[in-house]
Amino acid sequence: MAKQTAPAWHWSEDGINFRTRKWVRPEDLNANGSLFGGSLLKWIDEEAAIYAIVQLGNYRAVTKHISEINFEASAVQGDLVEIGLTATYFGRTSLTMRAMARNMITRKRLLTIEKIVFVSLDEDGVPTPHGYTDITYDRDRMPTERLATGTIRLPS
Ligand SMILES: CC(C)(COP(=O)(O)OP(=O)(O)OC[C@H]1O[C@@H](n2cnc3c(N)ncnc32)[C@H](O)[C@@H]1OP(=O)(O)O)[C@@H](O)C(=O)NCCC(=O)NCCS
Repeated sequence: MAKQTAPAWHWSEDGINFRTRKWVRPEDLNANGSLFGGSLLKWIDEEAAIYAIVQLGNYRAVTKHISEINFEASAVQGDLVEIGLTATYFGRTSLTMRAMARNMITRKRLLTIEKIVFVSLDEDGVPTPHGYTDITYDRDRMPTERLATGTIRLPS
């Protein structure tokens, strides 16, 4: 049988870089036998939280708002799903991101979320200005304190 040629697949789409890949496992399925929406949203929210921490330099970043979600396609057990994000707006205390998830096997888009808003909080849980206006592609804003203990041990 002739080998199939896969259609072109872009690493980045609309400025979104796909950093996280997930393997759909039995515990991620719904009663229909396809990917449970809640599992996908959990992966995206976690990815967005890490992205917000890296961009805002603050561990205390919480989900404030997620815009409409339209599940366009799905995945089944064993499929590989990749998730990408990009920052679209730096507010005073908030960061707005755009998210996309796609199925690496079927090459179909699972969903796009136009707005995921995270808010940077101070130690009292009050919104605090983050002071940033654009995306960093480095680790230059990483927090220097470990949230649980207030300490950090950097490798020597
Ligand atoms: C996050 C929280 C402290 C914000 O409180 P708040 O009273 O809305 O704060 P503010 O009105 O000062 O708004 C803070 C920022 O959020 C933005 N914001 C508030 N409501 C928003 C909404 N519905 N959509 C988008 N952005 C919103 C504001 O524009 C502001 O951004 P800016 O400073 O960049 O302009 C509070 O809503 C909260 O604790 N929510 C629960 C968060 C959480 O636990 N999330 C995890 C899920 S359980």
